[in-house]
Amino acid sequence: MKLSKSLAMLLTLICMTVIVVTTFRLSPSFARSTPMMSAQESAEKVTTDLIAQVPGGNSLYTRLGGYNGIAAVIDDSATFIFADQLIGKYFIGLSTNSKQRLRQLLVDQFCQAAGGPCVYTGRTMKLSHTGMDGGLTNNEFNAFANGVSQALDKNRVNQPEKVEVLAFVNSLRSRIVEK
Ligand code: HEM
Repeated sequence: MKLSKSLAMLLTLICMTVIVVTTFRLSPSFARSTPMMSAQESAEKVTTDLIAQVPGGNSLYTRLGGYNGIAAVIDDSATFIFADQLIGKYFIGLSTNSKQRLRQLLVDQFCQAAGGPCVYTGRTMKLSHTGMDGGLTNNEFNAFANGVSQALDKNRVNQPEKVEVLAFVNSLRSRIVEK
């Protein structure tokens, strides 16, 4: 009798805890143990969210031809960028695997920014470019953006989509250019 009473009390306690946790959307402390997003990271996230919201519900991702469409644009961008007179030098020393890794990160980054089902897992733009050759210039950034632009043309991406992709590229300028 005493045992079933304690069992009933325990069950009531568990039910109450579940109700309180779900009602107030409490998260366990381990879920909050990851550090807060830095201002720069949350700015990148906002940019990504903005690009992903397209009136009419037809995401940029879909309009670019989905994952394969974006991957083709990135592959061609890499070809143009690696062969560029001004910035090709930055990629000469990369191993085959480093180039493949960079290519995959770019596909994920652009896919996510366009509202696709990808998750970019690389470093922030500031972290991965700060200090490169003493600081990247606007001209070098323009050469990178030009490579993307040429790849968009090569893949016959329509003007409105081209403008949106290049706007995303440009939104990263202040985090990449240092001088
Ligand atoms: C909008 C312009 C740019 C975008 C979207 C972009 C994107 C990226 C991404 C996603 C990575 C990988 C980050 C990681 O390793 O976690 C990366 C690395 C790299 N970026 Fe950029 N980048 C841009 C501009 C530039 C420019 C202008 C240069 C050179 C002139 C450059 C040179 C490099 C190099 C060499 C790496 C490899 C670093 C490494 O493997 O450790 N990037 N970039």
